Amino acid sequence: MTYKEEYRASIDDPAGFWADKARDLDWFKPASEVLTQDEQGIHHWFADAELNTCYLALDFHVNNGRAQQTALIYDSPVTGQQKKYSYRELRDAVALCAGMLSNHGVGKGDRVVIYLPMIPEALISMLACARLGAVHSVVFGGFAPLELAVRLNDATPKVLLTASCGIEVNRVVEYKPIVDSAIDMAQHKPASCILLQRPQAQAEMKNGRDVDWQQALEAAAPADCVPVKGSDPLYILYTSGTTGKPKGVVRDNGGHAVAMKYSMTAIYDMQPGEVFWAASDVGWVVGHSYIVYGPLIHGCTTVLYEGKPIMTPDAGAFWRVISEHRVKALFTAPTAFRAIKKEDPQAELARQYDISCLQTIFAAGERLDPPTYEWLADSFHVPVLDHWWQTETGWSIAANMHGLESMPVKPGSSTVPVPGFNVQILDDSGRQLGANEQGFIAIKLPLPPSCLTTIWGDVERFKSNYLETYPGYFSTGDGGYFDEDGYLFIMGRVDDVINVAGHRLSTGEMEEIVGKHPMVAECAVIGRRDELKGQLPMGFVVLKNSAGAKPEQIVDEVIAMVRQDIGAVAAFKQALVVARLPKTRSGKILRKTLRAIVDGDEYLLPSTIEDPAALDEIKALL
Ligand code: COA
Ligand code: AMP
Repeated sequence: MTYKEEYRASIDDPAGFWADKARDLDWFKPASEVLTQDEQGIHHWFADAELNTCYLALDFHVNNGRAQQTALIYDSPVTGQQKKYSYRELRDAVALCAGMLSNHGVGKGDRVVIYLPMIPEALISMLACARLGAVHSVVFGGFAPLELAVRLNDATPKVLLTASCGIEVNRVVEYKPIVDSAIDMAQHKPASCILLQRPQAQAEMKNGRDVDWQQALEAAAPADCVPVKGSDPLYILYTSGTTGKPKGVVRDNGGHAVAMKYSMTAIYDMQPGEVFWAASDVGWVVGHSYIVYGPLIHGCTTVLYEGKPIMTPDAGAFWRVISEHRVKALFTAPTAFRAIKKEDPQAELARQYDISCLQTIFAAGERLDPPTYEWLADSFHVPVLDHWWQTETGWSIAANMHGLESMPVKPGSSTVPVPGFNVQILDDSGRQLGANEQGFIAIKLPLPPSCLTTIWGDVERFKSNYLETYPGYFSTGDGGYFDEDGYLFIMGRVDDVINVAGHRLSTGEMEEIVGKHPMVAECAVIGRRDELKGQLPMGFVVLKNSAGAKPEQIVDEVIAMVRQDIGAVAAFKQALVVARLPKTRSGKILRKTLRAIVDGDEYLLPSTIEDPAALDEIKALL
């Protein structure tokens, strides 16, 4: 089938289309109805089917001729370690970990928070939860105690899984103090905290609550796969919204497995047995989908890399991994390529390795900017494909459907809507716009399999955030347009979400933190353009009483507060004290105008501006 035929079929008859794709999986019991709606009007895929995602990812392959094939390659330049697991070894490790969780009271539907660095136990414990029908919630290691505490309160886990430390290049980041302080802060206390001691740091254990991972494993017996319903939750993944409270995106089991399997061939053109590497982190959605679930459900070998694109030890790190493990497809964020390009502009380090196995490079997390695209295409002579994604969908909404029919690349575009996603560009009033008209990107309901089915514990927030702006559509929060050939161009967020080095962050949350400083009257945080990281947050602060205040000291203090509350990953390192913020006469802060000024872009002075001099002051300070 051509892309056009496949796409048409998915839009004309979604239930028939996905019923057909679902036949590629080994269900315990197929769904009696493929697409249903609940009493809230929310769509579900394969709701009453029975399956187990861990079974599909591991046991199925062990039972069907892949027991000896490598399932997982752990490559850790920061510790100098490598380890391979066959499908059988991984299944056994996961079954034992599931037994350990079960000994600690975890059963179907219970939540487990996972706060682990990029080590095999992260992937093993995710799959162990899936095996028991428990719901995992992985928290990215770069987040501070408060962020972890907020997630503990929201997900109310029985168990917290962690390790003594993560390693950032050569800096050992001790996790235990972060975990202890998060549990102290949280109203919800997990009954047990199971901790893996790594040789790089020895964590102090608290009697009665903390459990040594190794000892807990020794006391465990392997656990079997527990059948769950298609609509039962597989995981909760928190992502930034416009306020300080992150949104717990809920992913189901059934639709997710179908989309993962389909995408591995239709988008990534992978065959079972081949090596796929998503150089991301299991704390992000890309890590969930394409380090863990997608490649394993498809019978591929996946790479778990504990390192950076540069500095571990140099900008040749990615090419070393590709060459050593015979990676066929690499998937990472453009910021990683920009970092490599900056260090090794001629891609000379790549020439030291035989990377003839590499057939495709995929980028997502932010727009693949044309200069980075050109550099990759010129240096590596393989297709370089951008695709557009969100935590909410769990897989790409627009892509070059490489496994179906490769389309010509237009730099700056993520190509065409993926089958199942009825993407439309709407104006303020919800009217559909035509080619080359920029507007809000919305997806006509029903969303295809794998997209979020609710926000954990808050279906009203799910409806108001995503479904009510344009009735009958899901609002993506991104703006953009289709060109005359139907290519989609994503122009960025239309809300307070920014993207820093591929990490999704909320400027609204940063404003809430800065606003807590006793000397701050009001503030605005915007995302300014950055050559390496795509965007970086920048604050504008108005003081309550400037008499006697030391602006530099206050700037240092608000920067420290954001690092303290969100974590180093926020990369909030720049703020200016100003006399007033530019506002409309009705008091709305002109963030868009601020952004244009900081980025040196052209802008129209809004007719509603209250005090144009506020802009002059900022221009003078920059
Ligand atoms: N645990 C603890 N701290 C972490 C962390 C983690 N897992 N990840 C990042 N941090 C810290 C960093 O050490 C840094 O701290 P610092 O301010 O003290 O230096 C801070 O958070 C910002 O990190 P980052 O944005 O990653 O910047 P960097 O300068 O360390 O590295 C890149 C820059 C481009 C190499 C890196 O951002 C990168 O590899 N990005 C790819 C992101 C990605 O894979 N995204 C997933 C979507 S596909
Ligand atoms: P996350 O939920 O962390 O995956 O971030 C999702 C957001 O990242 C999207 O809403 C976009 O703003 C941005 N994004 C992700 N991939 C792309 C892409 N290929 N092109 C443009 N923006 C992207």
